[in-house]
Amino acid sequence: SPPACIRRRVMTALSSELIAALETLLGRVARDYAPSALASSHSAEDMVITDAILRLRLGIGIFTLDTGRLHADTLDLVGAVRERYGYEVRIIRPDPAAVTEYVTWFGRDAFYESADLRKRCCAVRKVAPLKLALQGRTSWITGQRRSQAMTRADLPLQENDAAHGLTKFNPLADWSEDEVWACIRARDIPYNRLYDQGYRSIGCAPCTRPAVAGEDVRAGRWWWEEAGARECGLHVSPGGRLVRSKETVS
Ligand code: ADX
Ligand code: SF4
Repeated sequence: SPPACIRRRVMTALSSELIAALETLLGRVARDYAPSALASSHSAEDMVITDAILRLRLGIGIFTLDTGRLHADTLDLVGAVRERYGYEVRIIRPDPAAVTEYVTWFGRDAFYESADLRKRCCAVRKVAPLKLALQGRTSWITGQRRSQAMTRADLPLQENDAAHGLTKFNPLADWSEDEVWACIRARDIPYNRLYDQGYRSIGCAPCTRPAVAGEDVRAGRWWWEEAGARECGLHVSPGGRLVRSKETVS
């Protein structure tokens, strides 16, 4: 493999080209699809987009869905963004009555019992709050990438989100994991400490574990479930169903 100095140069050149494309797209969103907002889980991807939005002062809002089950390291990023950019990420919390209902009926950690109970937990803690967070918007932005999962293999840069009646942008759709990290390093963007402990995709604490070398990026998410079903319901296709991979579309 090439010496570190060359590798670094290649990575830096690569990321500045990608950053330019990202900034152009975000500028277009801010101009033609306002009001818009980034849904941020403070993933490395979301932090790359956060950095572009706040550096360029695009007037695109940023919110995070605090499910009540996040790692403290993830919530720390709210403070890191405040310190670095002077911006207060909007925190959206689930309806306490709906959470209590789930916990008393099924148990706090009932998501380990079945895919149905897992999806119901995500519905209360993430999907319903997302709906509220998107009210009054024209578009929203996510940090999803194609190579993250089979279910994201066809992910477009821009799509019609019929479930919310909005335009949805996935500006990092064609970025690789390495390109995301090249950008984080080149711009010294704050990132979740859990990545340094082997996590490669970070959701709620009880539903995320580090990924072992050779596993795919999202292998640590809902790892006890079948690989094809590991989506939380935040991202649904125009038909209202989960987006499927090429092989399963009929
Ligand atoms: S997901 O299965 O949880 O949806 P993933 O963690 O890969 O998948 O996140 C994909 C994108 O969904 C993120 O880049 C972000 O845009 C959005 N997202 C996921 N979780 C949250 C959250 N807790 N708050 C806000 N946005 C989120
Ligand atoms: Fe509940 Fe786990 Fe979904 Fe978080 S990821 S909302 S804890 S099932």
